Amino acid sequence: MTDTPIRLADYLPPSHLVDGVSLTFRLDPGRTRVLSEIRFRPNPARTGCPDLRLDGEGLALVSAALDGAPLAVQPDATGLTLPGASLPDAPFTFTAEVEIDPAANTALEGLYMSNGMYCTQCEAEGFRKITFYPDRPDVMAPFRVRIESDLPVLLSNGNEVASGPGWAEWHDPWPKPSYLFALVAGDLVAHSAGFTTASGRTVALNIWVRPGDEARCAYAMDSLIRSMKWDEEVYGREYDLDTFNIVAVDDFNMGAMENKGLNIFNSKYVLALPETATDDDFARIEAVIAHEYFHNWTGNRITCRDWFQLCLKEGLTVFRDQQFSSDMRSAAVKRIEDVLTLRARQFREDDGPLAHPVRPKEYIEINNFYTATVYEKGAELIGMLKRLVGDEAYARALDLYFERHDGQAATIEDWLTVFEHATGRDLAQFKLWYSEAGTPRLKVSDRFEEGRYTLEFEQVNPPTPGQPVKQPKVIPVAVGLLNPNGDEVLPTTVLEMTEPRQSFTFEGLGARPVPSILRGFSAPVVLERETSPEERAFLLAHDTDPFNKWEAGRALAKDVLARMVTEGAQPGPDWLEALARVAVDETLDPAFRALALRLPGEDDMAQTLHAAGHVPDPARIHAARERMAGALAERLEPELGALIETLAEPGPFSPGARAAGRRALRLAALGLVTRRDGGARAE
Ligand code: SER
Ligand code: ZN
Repeated sequence: MTDTPIRLADYLPPSHLVDGVSLTFRLDPGRTRVLSEIRFRPNPARTGCPDLRLDGEGLALVSAALDGAPLAVQPDATGLTLPGASLPDAPFTFTAEVEIDPAANTALEGLYMSNGMYCTQCEAEGFRKITFYPDRPDVMAPFRVRIESDLPVLLSNGNEVASGPGWAEWHDPWPKPSYLFALVAGDLVAHSAGFTTASGRTVALNIWVRPGDEARCAYAMDSLIRSMKWDEEVYGREYDLDTFNIVAVDDFNMGAMENKGLNIFNSKYVLALPETATDDDFARIEAVIAHEYFHNWTGNRITCRDWFQLCLKEGLTVFRDQQFSSDMRSAAVKRIEDVLTLRARQFREDDGPLAHPVRPKEYIEINNFYTATVYEKGAELIGMLKRLVGDEAYARALDLYFERHDGQAATIEDWLTVFEHATGRDLAQFKLWYSEAGTPRLKVSDRFEEGRYTLEFEQVNPPTPGQPVKQPKVIPVAVGLLNPNGDEVLPTTVLEMTEPRQSFTFEGLGARPVPSILRGFSAPVVLERETSPEERAFLLAHDTDPFNKWEAGRALAKDVLARMVTEGAQPGPDWLEALARVAVDETLDPAFRALALRLPGEDDMAQTLHAAGHVPDPARIHAARERMAGALAERLEPELGALIETLAEPGPFSPGARAAGRRALRLAALGLVTRRDGGARAE
C-alpha cells in the first residue's frame, strides 16, 4: 500500500480494453488455482504504446503467456507490468495461472471462506486478490466462469450455461467491471420463486442460505419481487438475466453487495422470522434488498468511471431505495427517518475533520470513502435535482441517462449533462454541491407590510478542511404559508435560492401568515430561524407538510423539556393540545402519529442543553422526561383506550407496512396507559 494520494485530476483512460474474460476456479481451501484468459485490445483513446498494468496482490504466479507464448514476468507487490513495446498493436490474449489461499483470507476481500463456504467481495479493489487484471471500474467485459469443486452449489454472475458432477459454468453477457465479479460455492439450499418481467421474460429467483434457514427468507423474497416490479413501473427498468441469485453469509464486510446477478448479503439483511424479528428489521431487509436490486441499472449497467464517481451509483441508488420505501410504507415517516440519519451521521461528518465533498478530489484508501457523505448526502443531491427540475423532467432525464450511458462507465459530468440536455438548464452552480464539502446554514427572517409578506434568506457556507472559501449554492427551499386560522394560503412552492442573500415576496395576504419553510427537508442545510413556541405548536397542529409538522413538534417538545429541566417548568397546554390533536387525527398515518408521540431522547436533550450553554445533568433530564410522558399520558387518557382497541390486529401476524404502523401506534398508546396505571399491566 502506498501513501501517495490518488487524484481525480490525474485520471487517464485505460491503456487496453477487455473484450472477454474466461476464468476457471479449482477450489481448494488453502490452494485454490485460478486460470484466467483475458482478451485485450489497445484502447483507441490512448496513443503511443502504453504499458499494460495488471493489478494483483498476494497472488502466487504459476505461469503466464501472451497469445500462447510463455511470458517471463516478475510481479511486484501490487501487480505486474507488460511493457508497451512488447505488446502487439492489435487484439491479444493474456493467460495466467495463479494460486491463492481463501482459508487464510481474513480480510474478507477477494475470495475467502466463511463457515465452509467460498465467497467473494470485490468492491472496491478485491478482484486483484483473485487474479491479475486491470482492476478499475472503467474496464468492462463479459465474463465466463468455470467452477470446479465438490461442493453442491456453485454460483457465479449471469446465467448458468452448463454443469456436471463437480463443476458448473456461468456466463454473464453484460459487460461489467471486475468489482462486480462474484463466486459462491457451498452446501446451500434455495428459497425459490419466479418473476415475469413486463416484456414477458421469466426470471428464476433464488435466495441461497444454509440448510435450516429456508423458512427465514420469505420477507426478503417478497421484497425482491416488489422491488423488481417497482423498478419497472417507476423507472421503466427490467431485469436482464434468466436468474437472480441472492446469497446470505454470516461473515461479510459490507451490508450487502450488488454483484451482477449474484447479490451477496450479510445474513442479517436477509433472514427474518416473524417470531423474532422487529418491524424495523423487516423494513431494513426490504430497503437493502431493494437497494442492491436497483444497482442492476444504477451501478451495474451504468457503472462509475473511477472511484471518485462512487456517488454516481450510490447516491442515485440510495435515492431510489428511499423512494421505494416511501412508496411501500409511510412516506412521511421514511423521510423523517432519513433526515434524522442524515443529521446524525452526515451533518456530523460534514462539520468535522473528516468532511469531504460528495465527489472527493483525492483519496489514499478508497475503502475509507464509503461514507454517509457519498451515500446519504449523495442521495439528497438527487432529491434536490428532482425538486429543481420537477418530476416530469426528472423522469425524462433518467430515460436519457439510461439510453445514453447504458454499458458505460460514467462520471458526474455525464450525469449532469444528461439533465442539462433533457431540461435546457445550466447546472454549473448546482455542481458545487458535488465539489464542496460542508453543510450550508440557511438563515431566514420575515416581515409583513400592507398585505405583502417577505421572506429573506441568507446562506452561509462554512469552511471545511482544505476548502476555506465557498461559493453560494443553488438551494431549493420548499415553502408553504398558513393563515392564522390554520388554512393554507400558499401551497408548497419551491423557491430557488442562488445568491448569498435573496428575498421572496408574496402579495395580497389579509393577515401575517405563518411560514412553513424547507418543507419535506427540501435541501440538506441547517435552517436557522427564531421561532416561538406558539408558532411551533401552531405548525404541529396545522401544517399540511408532514415533515415540518413533525419537525415543529419535535422542536417544541425539546423547548418544553429544556424548560422542565432547567426551570422545573410544567409542560404547557400548547404542546399537549397540539400533540393530542395529532395522536387522534385519523387522516394521519398511524406510523406518523406513533413517531410524533415519541419524546426527544435523553442523549439528544443532553446535547441540546450542552449547546445552549448548560451542563446537562442526566438524572434531571431523565426525571423531567418521565414527568413529560406522565403529563402526556394524563392528557390523552380519554383517548387511549379507544386507540388501543381500534388498532388491535386480530388476524395472523403480517410484517407489512400497514400492520407495522398500526402496531407502532398501539405500542405508543400502551406505553402511555401503563404510565397512568403506575406500572406495567398485562394485555
Ligand atoms: N456497493 C455496496 C452497496 O452499496 C457496498 O456497500 O450496497
Ligand atoms: Zn449501494
